[in-house]
Amino acid sequence: MNAVLTGASSGIGHALARELARRGYAVALLARREALLDALARDINARGGRALPIACDVTDRASVHDAVARAERDLGPIDLAVANAGVSVPNSAATFSLADAELIMNVNYHGMLYLYDAVIRSMMERRTGTFAGVASLAGLRGLPGAGSYSASKAAMQNFLEAARVELRPYGVRVAIVNPGFVATPMTEKNRFRMPFLMNADDAALAIANGLAKGKRVIEFPRPMSLLVRLLRVLPDALFDRATVPYARRRLDRDKVKR
Ligand SMILES: NC(=O)c1ccc[n+]([C@@H]2O[C@H](COP(=O)([O-])OP(=O)(O)OC[C@H]3O[C@@H](n4cnc5c(N)ncnc54)[C@H](OP(=O)(O)O)[C@@H]3O)[C@@H](O)[C@H]2O)c1
Repeated sequence: MNAVLTGASSGIGHALARELARRGYAVALLARREALLDALARDINARGGRALPIACDVTDRASVHDAVARAERDLGPIDLAVANAGVSVPNSAATFSLADAELIMNVNYHGMLYLYDAVIRSMMERRTGTFAGVASLAGLRGLPGAGSYSASKAAMQNFLEAARVELRPYGVRVAIVNPGFVATPMTEKNRFRMPFLMNADDAALAIANGLAKGKRVIEFPRPMSLLVRLLRVLPDALFDRATVPYARRRLDRDKVKR
């Protein structure tokens, strides 16, 4: 079984690459920081697994297509593709940066589409395979202080949901992964309390287990998922009332930073 995984150089992707390799997948490791990918590949290969580091920028369509072609050439047809690469930059509506909003969308959403475009036709022809996108619980509602990030994750979720239904007759599975807070380089800069924070190895385990079970939506940790699902069905007026104090605190913090 062969897997291709973006964002493998750190955090959730790094942990997931090791977990997939442990389960017998040959893994193509994609990200920009080659030295980190090389070190991870060495570690996986030394443990008897098979890993192929490939430098790739997911905002560049050709770079993603070339990386997938290389993975197919060296490993064989792709059984599992995980669009995990992502960025999160504080970007509130009040202190808005168009450049940051574009970056978030380009990496998180367009990066996923480029991977999808590179792998999906072969999966459909072979009538097998799984495509998974690591979105976020933050995509289930427009979170004050993180509108651009929420929007990019909601875009991922909606695209994947439609693809899941459409690709079923072709024997191709699609999974949406919605993590809560996970301790990674992405979240270590957060200065606010992160409820139910979990570590990257546990997140990787939850994702790999969910994929093995063929789950449509892989969401964790359970208490955070329940909290956000509750937030999702909250009427708008109540949602606003619940999140306004949080939004004010975020805005004050952003103002101090600028
Ligand atoms: N941590 C959390 O609490 C949390 C919660 C929900 C969802 N998520 C999602 O989980 C995914 C992984 O996040 P993480 O927490 O593990 O963050 P992380 O440690 O910062 O890792 C992000 C990964 O994305 C890669 N990446 C960023 N820009 C890229 C680009 N242009 N081209 C290729 N790769 C790129 C990075 O590699 P290079 O820099 O080497 O390119 C890195 O491997 C993201 O999609 C994130 O939104 C995280």
